[in-house]
Amino acid sequence: MSTTRFLTGITTSGTPHLGNYVGSIRPSVRASQTPGVESFYFLADYHALIKIDEPARIQRSTLEIAASWLAAGLNPEQVTFYRQSDVPEIPELTWFLTCVTGKGVLNRAHAYKASVDKNSAAGMDPDADVTAGLFMYPVLMGADILMFNAHKVPVGRDQIQHIEMARDMAASFNHRYGEHFVPPQAEIEEAVATLPGLDGRKMSKSYDNTIPLFSSREQLKKLIAGIKTDSRAPGEPKDTEGSALFQIYQAFASEEETTALRQSFADGIAWGDAKAVLFERIDREIAPMRAAYEDYMAHPEKVEALLLVGAQKARAIATPFMTQLRSAVGLRGLGSAVQAKAEKTSKGALAAFKQYREKDGLFYFKLVDTAGAMLLQSKGFASPKVAGQAIGQLQQDGAAAIATLQAQLEVLDSSALDRAVQALAALAEATDSK
Ligand code: TRP
Repeated sequence: MSTTRFLTGITTSGTPHLGNYVGSIRPSVRASQTPGVESFYFLADYHALIKIDEPARIQRSTLEIAASWLAAGLNPEQVTFYRQSDVPEIPELTWFLTCVTGKGVLNRAHAYKASVDKNSAAGMDPDADVTAGLFMYPVLMGADILMFNAHKVPVGRDQIQHIEMARDMAASFNHRYGEHFVPPQAEIEEAVATLPGLDGRKMSKSYDNTIPLFSSREQLKKLIAGIKTDSRAPGEPKDTEGSALFQIYQAFASEEETTALRQSFADGIAWGDAKAVLFERIDREIAPMRAAYEDYMAHPEKVEALLLVGAQKARAIATPFMTQLRSAVGLRGLGSAVQAKAEKTSKGALAAFKQYREKDGLFYFKLVDTAGAMLLQSKGFASPKVAGQAIGQLQQDGAAAIATLQAQLEVLDSSALDRAVQALAALAEATDSK
């Protein structure tokens, strides 16, 4: 497999704003145009049910987000573009993952913890007004990702924890039922990870400080005029640090443009003029997409047709994969007793070496324990044969080989190293007693 699969979803709980555009829509469209990338982008409407109980609003938001993505240049022929709730395999997988996820892990999820902390601070029952849906949110998200074995998940910083949880779910499932999932990785675009809103806090529906991605020129200008600034007068030098206006500009401008505005700040540009610069820069990027957006909004049936094709593409993967997973956990027809017997004898699993090839063309291996945790990780080898020889040496000489192969191995912390030594000893013992 040489292509990298990117996957991301947007919750259909509101009208897309500049923060969604910069943090998710724009980078995902760009990524989808990169050669060697296979993209899965979806409207996370099951997720929306966690927050929204207004059916019309969910439907409206689904259309707005789909139209925004398409207007921003997403090509549905290149991308698997679908609505989450058109893929019933996702909630089914959610249940499988629920059964391999520690409740304690979910207790620590940020969104849930934030609610609990807020309740506790107010002297209320910690779980007051917390639905099980909010609690389970990371598992649904894990199913979104693992359903398509995505390698990279472009998300904002606040979502990193969820990707880590998805990795853990993949490892726990693989440990119990064999290798079915690849561990996903979060992909953060450093410069744009969080866009400030009108009041300087993170741009977010929950702070009511957003600038909608698609508004008329006049509305956009008006909203930008409302960005919070300090009270420095024209002619006084301004700070770029901590300036929401400057940060938003940076997310749209080239390096040269940013440098120029930084100079203007130092030279004491009036806030009103800085806002005009920001407005023109944003509008220059958004204006060409406006007509397409308006057209999709006026013709929801066009969007619907595209989503249905996307659902077919998604299910062409999800349906057979789910069949495989159902069989793996033992939800299968009663005709096949053979497989059950084979599984019985393979119990008492040990750490294992995994060989793989990376995009750099080199050959790697790692030693992972039964829970999927990494014990050893090699550097790149020019050929699979040389990598194989190193594995042979480790199997034969155990700890001693770790020392001789030092230059070919990544440095891990001492606890992983300890466990690697033990695992190699156990492997050697198992081989001897065969
Ligand atoms: N939880 C994400 C958000 O609110 C949206 C989302 C749902 C998502 N499922 C996902 C993002 C899977 C990436 C991958 O921003």
